[in-house]
Parts: sequence; C-alpha cells; structure tokens
Amino acid sequence: MSVPERNERRVTFSLEGREVEARAGETVAVALLACGERVLSRSVKYHRPRGFFCLSGHCGACLTRIDGKPNMKACRAVVRDGMAVERQNAFPSGGFDVLAAADFFFAKGMDHHTMMTSPRALNAVMQKVVRQLGGLGRMPDAPLDGTPELPRATVRHVDALVIGAGPAGLAAATTLARANKRTLVLDEQDRPGGSYLAHPAFGLPAADRAVNEARGAGVEILSSASAISWYPEDEPRPGAPPGLLAVDLGGASLLKLTADRYVYATGAYDQNALFRDNDRPGVLAARAVGRMLMRFGVLAGKRPVVLGGGPYAQALTDALAAAGAEVTRIDGVQTRVVAAKGYGWVKGIEVLDAGKKKSRTVKCDLIAVAALPAPASELPRQHGVSVELRPEAGGFACAVDQDGRSAAPNVFACGDVTGFLGPAEAEVHGARVGQAAVRSYA
Ligand code: FES
Repeated sequence: MSVPERNERRVTFSLEGREVEARAGETVAVALLACGERVLSRSVKYHRPRGFFCLSGHCGACLTRIDGKPNMKACRAVVRDGMAVERQNAFPSGGFDVLAAADFFFAKGMDHHTMMTSPRALNAVMQKVVRQLGGLGRMPDAPLDGTPELPRATVRHVDALVIGAGPAGLAAATTLARANKRTLVLDEQDRPGGSYLAHPAFGLPAADRAVNEARGAGVEILSSASAISWYPEDEPRPGAPPGLLAVDLGGASLLKLTADRYVYATGAYDQNALFRDNDRPGVLAARAVGRMLMRFGVLAGKRPVVLGGGPYAQALTDALAAAGAEVTRIDGVQTRVVAAKGYGWVKGIEVLDAGKKKSRTVKCDLIAVAALPAPASELPRQHGVSVELRPEAGGFACAVDQDGRSAAPNVFACGDVTGFLGPAEAEVHGARVGQAAVRSYA
C-alpha cells in the first residue's frame, strides 16, 4: 500500500467570499473536507445538514452553488484558482440555518399536504411560503455557459464502445484494442481508474498501470464524459439504423455515439447502512474514505469507525491505521449500530453489543460505511439488458452469460455491474468479456 502525498501545487478558491486553499487536482469536496468545512447544504424539507457520502457523483449529498450555477456536485468539480463556491438551501448560512427548526419541531415527520388546509386565506399564505422554501438552490446568475443555445452534437461511430474506465472496463477495452478494434472508453469521473482508486491494495499505481496498458494498446479514453441515456428510437444520422448513446462532455458539448459492440462496465454504487441519523455529515461510504486516502493523500478523520464486514472493510481499517488514524472496526453483526451521534458532523456512534441490553457510544469523527455496493445497471437496462435481483451480489445485476454476453444484440457487460466483484476479480472478468466480444466479430 502506498499513500500518495498531497499535490504540492496550491490552488485558491473562495467559499462564500472566504479564501480556501486546495491542492491542484482535488475536487471541491475533497478540498473542503481537508480543511474542515463539513456542511455543504441543507436537505429540502427538514433542512438537515448535508455533507458528502459517496464522493463519486452518485448520491447527491454534496450539491453546492459553483460560479453562480446551482446544484453542482462538489465531489465532481475540480478546483480552479478563483472558483466561487457557496453553500445552498440554507438561511442565513449552511453552518447555521434557522429553517432547521423544522427538523426539531417535526421530529416525527411532517405531512405538509395536510397542514393549514383551512381557512383559505391561511392556506394561500402557507402555499406561498412552501413555494419559497421548496426546490433546491436559486436560479443561475447567467444563462448556462453564457449562451442560451444548446451545444451542437457530434456523431461518432467506433468498433467497440466501453462505458466505464474501472478495472473491468479498462481490461475489456485493452483486449479489444489489441485485436485491432477501434475502442473508445467513456468515464464520468475526471480521472480513469474507477474502484482501483479507492482500494488500499491497488490505488494510483494499479490505476495508472491499467490506463497505460489501455492507451498503449490504442484505446481512446474520454474522462468527465457522462453517458446520459440510450435512445433506441433515435437515428444518429438521417436514414441510419436507430439507436444511439448520448454522452455529455462536461456540459460544453454532446456526443451521439454508436458502435458495433457495446461493453457496459458501469461498476457499482456505494450504499449506506440502516441506522438512525445515517444521513449526518461525517457518515461516508468506505470507498469514499478510501478514495480520499489512496487518490488524494487526505486522511478524512483522526478517529474513524469503519463499519461492516468483508475484506474491503479490513483493508481500509489497516490503511487508515497505517496512515496514523485511531481506528475502531464495527462488524455490524456482533455489534449492531443504533445511531450516529452529533449534528453538524458525527461525534460518535451508538452501538449495541450482542447479548447486551444497554447500548454504548463509541467516540469518533467519521463513520466509514462498508456496505455491499449495488450494481449500476440502469444504463445497460435501457439498452435492453435484462437485470435480475441478486441481493447477495448487491441488488439488480445485469443478467449475462459466462462471457458477459447479454440478451440484447452486440451488448456485453462486465465487472461489478454483473454483481459486485471487487477490483481484482473485475479486471479478470473484464479481460474475459473483452475476448468474448472480440470473438463475436467473426
Ligand atoms: S454526489 Fe457528491 S458526495 Fe455523493
């Protein structure tokens, strides 16, 4: 395991007018966490504090206003000198929000549909207030990207299109490119590597090795490229067979992609565990904590609790301890979690040991939840791939044969999207599915 040093090049941005120092290449979320800024916004209804959870753009916990644009994901935005970041959905500020009173007054829940329905005048006032409070963020300062016109779409066709630049996707793409197939890999993150980047046994060296191998074989990798949707009825060009994948290249331009073979390697989403107040800032996905350490060299907490069984929880526990943290491991079986403690940031975790009637509180400054990730199967499903519910594999996984072939013509899937595997097995699976895809051209 080698934990990287934080980048030495400094970048300065502002948080509500106050200067914050970050390191080049960090995302806004990582930079804020590293300097102790923990509450980013408030939830819509109860104005509960919101921080980070997944640090990979999937949970929506980190929405902030960046350079006048609302609802930007702080974990996806890479810091730039002069960037202006504001917390949103709070009054007067994210740190102290008077509207959070709703969370105390309606601790057992609030059904706003049945509140103040009469008399009529009071109801009208209530509707106005709700409209003011509802929604997330304020309108942008200017038309997005300074122009009211939509960017033009570029149409492209490749031999093989791989969606996801994690262990499985990179291995599949390398195999396809070595067989002389023009192969394009899309990845929504700003740096390819996927789950390698979160795992103490792999980290940056494994990610760089896989990326270099893929590029060396001739693979083209597009980072910060989000596959929006598969449109089965749309023609990429007039008269062409229908069906295309729409790809957002960071809001600036759009790609309409078609391919002779499609390989979905979209990975898996981090999940939370069920316990009271599990939405508190400071409850993070274990892989988010791993990514902060293994990609950015940032220790997310000095006294973390790692929650969960399995090899990843153990690997993260060891890595955090080696980096100087005082770690507590809670397996969730012999010791069950009751609740997170703390409001703006977790201060402890209430647990109940097997055979005991009374709970106890473990002090901590971070709860890293190592729950089984859930396959990210929506996009292949849109493309006609069947999914099956396999709770032991994380949830709805792509139904494919042993070669990764789905029931949809020319569509394959590999890695965690077929049921959670972890980086080592996902890489092997990706290479095997890549070979099957190569054979399918014959
Ligand atoms: S979307 Fe940013 S932390 Fe999950």
